[in-house]
Amino acid sequence: QNEKDSQFIVSNWAKDHYHKLLLENEEGQSIGLSYLRQRGLNQHTIQTFELGYSLDAWDDLLKAAQKEGFQAKYLEKTGLTIIREDEQGKDSGRRYDRFRGRVMFPIHNVSGRVIGFGARTLKANDKTAKYLNSPESEIYHKSDVLYGLFQARQAIRSEEVCYLVEGYLDVLSLYQGGIKNVVASSGTSLTESQIRLIGRYSENVTVLYDGDAAGIRASLRGIDMLLEGGLNVRVVLFPDGDDPDSYIRKVGDQRFKEHLDSASQDFISFKTSVVAKEAAQDPVKKAEAIRDVLQSIAKVPDPIKRQVFLQQTSGAFGIDEQVLITEYNKLVKNAT
Ligand code: CTP
Ligand code: MN
Ligand code: MN
Ligand code: MN
Ligand code: MN
Repeated sequence: QNEKDSQFIVSNWAKDHYHKLLLENEEGQSIGLSYLRQRGLNQHTIQTFELGYSLDAWDDLLKAAQKEGFQAKYLEKTGLTIIREDEQGKDSGRRYDRFRGRVMFPIHNVSGRVIGFGARTLKANDKTAKYLNSPESEIYHKSDVLYGLFQARQAIRSEEVCYLVEGYLDVLSLYQGGIKNVVASSGTSLTESQIRLIGRYSENVTVLYDGDAAGIRASLRGIDMLLEGGLNVRVVLFPDGDDPDSYIRKVGDQRFKEHLDSASQDFISFKTSVVAKEAAQDPVKKAEAIRDVLQSIAKVPDPIKRQVFLQQTSGAFGIDEQVLITEYNKLVKNAT
C-alpha cells in the first residue's frame, strides 16, 4: 500500500466522519443540518454529495482518527490537521483540526474518490475566510479539479452541454433543481486542465457566473480560455447581486430553466453586449470593442468556426465583412 492510497483512505474516512456528524450528532444537526435545510437542500442532495459537518472543537477529528489507528502523518499530508508550532516556530508535535464548525463539501475526483474538502463557515461575522479548502497534496491539486464532475459526468454527456458555475452551493441547488450537468470552478479562475477535463465529456460549455462585476470579468476571461481549448461557449447572465443558487431559489426550477434558454447568448453576442455598452456612440471605443472581439475569435482553433464568427461579428457591429477580415488579419499578424 503506497502513500497515495493511505491519503485516499484517510480522506474517505474523514468524509464519512463529517457526514455522520451532520446527520447524527446534536451539534451537527442543530447547526450544520439546519443550515443546509435553510439553504433549501434536501436529504437526497445531502446524501448524493456526501455533505458533512465538522464540530466546533480543536481535536474532534484528530481524536477519532487516533482511535481508528490512522497515522498522524496522513492527516497532516491531506491537510486535515495542522501542526502547532512552539514559540521558536518549531514543530511542537501537537496538532489540531483544520476544519472546525463548518459545513463540509467533499471534493471527489472523476472516479468518485474523495481527494479534499471545501468548508463553509456558519458564523455570521467570522473573521476567517467564508470558505476554506484543503491544501495541495499528493492527491489534491486544486487547479485540476471541477467540483461536482463526478456526480455530473453522465448528464454532461447525455445533455451534450456542461454548465459552469462559481461555487459549491450553485452546483448543489441546480443539481437538486434537475439540472444535473453542472460543475464549479470553485472560485478560482478557470485553468487549462479544468477545461481539458470538461472537454472529455462535452464540447459545449455554458458559463453561469455570478451576476456581479467580478463574475462578468471572470466570464470574459473564462470565455477566451474555453475558446482556446476548442470548446463552444455560451453565457447566461443573472441579475446583479444574484448567483445561480440565489436565482433558482428566487424564481423556482421551471423559470430558472426558461431563463437558461431565453438568456443564453453565444460568446460573440455576450462580449459584444459588454464591450458595446462601454463603447456606445464613441467611434474610437467602438473600434476598440471590435478589436477586443476579434482577439477572442483569434483564439478559436477551428478555421471554419472562426469564419462563422467573423461573419457574425460583422453583422453585430454593422461593419463590412471584408473590412473586418482585413483588420482581423492585421491583428493576428501583429500578435505573432
Ligand atoms: N471560494 C473559495 N474561497 C473563498 C471564497 C470563495 O474557495 N474565500 C470559492 C468557493 O468554491 C465558493 C465559490 O468560490 O463556493 C464562490 O464564491 P462566492 O460567490 O463568493 O460564494 P457565495 O455565493 O458568496 O457563497 P455562499 O452562497 O455560500 O454564501
Ligand atoms: Mn461572495
Ligand atoms: Mn462571487
Ligand atoms: Mn451564493
Ligand atoms: Mn456566489
